[in-house]
Amino acid sequence: MQKKNIRNDVFHALIQAENGKLPKINRHNLPREDVGLFKELCLGVIRHKLFLDHVIDQFLKKKPSKNLRTILRIGAYQLLFLDKIPLHAILFETVQLAKAQSEKNFVNAVLRKISAQPKKTFFNKPKTLQDISTYYSIPLWMAEKWQRLLGFDLTETTCEISNCVAPLSLRINTLKTESLETEKQIKTLFGGASEGVLVEHSYNAPSNTSFSTTREFKEGHFVIQNEASQMVAWVLDPQPYESILDACAHPGVKTSHIAALMKNMGDIYCLDKKKPSLFHDNMERLGITIAHYHTHDLLKPLQLKKTFDRVLLDAPCSCWGVLRKHPEIKWRQSEKDLNHLQTTQKTMRDHLLPHLKNGGVFVYSVCTFSQEETLDFIEDTLKKYPDLSLENLEPFFPERVKKFIHKSGYFMCTPQKDGLDGFFICRFLKKISA
Ligand SMILES: C[S@@+](CC[C@H](N)C(=O)[O-])C[C@H]1O[C@@H](n2cnc3c(N)ncnc32)[C@H](O)[C@@H]1O
Repeated sequence: MQKKNIRNDVFHALIQAENGKLPKINRHNLPREDVGLFKELCLGVIRHKLFLDHVIDQFLKKKPSKNLRTILRIGAYQLLFLDKIPLHAILFETVQLAKAQSEKNFVNAVLRKISAQPKKTFFNKPKTLQDISTYYSIPLWMAEKWQRLLGFDLTETTCEISNCVAPLSLRINTLKTESLETEKQIKTLFGGASEGVLVEHSYNAPSNTSFSTTREFKEGHFVIQNEASQMVAWVLDPQPYESILDACAHPGVKTSHIAALMKNMGDIYCLDKKKPSLFHDNMERLGITIAHYHTHDLLKPLQLKKTFDRVLLDAPCSCWGVLRKHPEIKWRQSEKDLNHLQTTQKTMRDHLLPHLKNGGVFVYSVCTFSQEETLDFIEDTLKKYPDLSLENLEPFFPERVKKFIHKSGYFMCTPQKDGLDGFFICRFLKKISA
């Protein structure tokens, strides 16, 4: 039987992605041995799209059709970024994707020209912001916004990091530490794993580590979670027997950390618009019994009489801090989405705050660093809610965390080389009224 050309599935997934529908990479119906290459090609082409087009365009006389461009991107990605596939296999398998003989000849000719040129001639270090945007495949509007916020040098670093493959970060589930108590055991399970840089129970393993079939994962001994995201529950600082409102909780990554810090004692009232099945699976795997899930659209007010000791809003956002993991986001986002997200985040906040007890804590977090979703949110919240004050996080954390705590008290980091995702977290205290 002839072996299936995996690039055909990649081609269809990429066409779907171009039309705004993301390929379901994990659940794709593929033989197991092909899943790795499928993911590599799909994510690689999406991650390096601008750069690949820049290279391809040097060898074109006129604009190709969308299908032909996609085929050329698949071929160019293999030629420029992968070492293990022989040239003849790249050319043969990629050319097969074209339909008419004239298109096959065209694809073959362009890919041969790219392969004939020494690779390093395509990889000249960029100098201007426009070059940086192309070289690291970050949309120019985004790079321009980052430059206004971060300055040129940090923008270049952030573009470079955002274009890499993320490490696999994990958190030990302290509700079930028996088998993963020591660093040695982690290192045995994940070769090359290193301890996190900010908080305890956090580890980074190489990005290609497979974990989902390990006994330790199935039995809930660890959770896949970036260390910056782990900061959220530490900032919330939930205590055993408290009542917590966890808004935008699906699939329960932060819920599970909150529950662990509460030693699985108390009550976590979780809200999200998504269906609960994955959330319930996660809680069961991790041995959590105090999280109760309610499906609700937070753009509508809550029909709830209760108030809570602590409220977390882990809001939907522009995700600039996690583009390494979700490169498709950079192509489907536009500048005006930031205003829309800002309105969503404020509306959610307005629906949650009536349910915060006097003397209670409100934490807002987003995996991004846009001005609209971070500093503007603080400013608007303090203006609209005079009974809230912004707490300074510095006294609560050790020295190594402090470099990410701004002098007015919030936590913010852009994606870092040591594995941290970009994140923003702020904490408000509600006055005890007289
Ligand atoms: C950043 S994710 C939350 C991640 C989650 N806290 C965790 O740690 O696993 C944002 C969540 O907001 C939810 N969301 C978006 N719009 C919503 C809405 N209108 N009402 C309720 N939930 C919403 C999404 O379903 C998504 O799960």
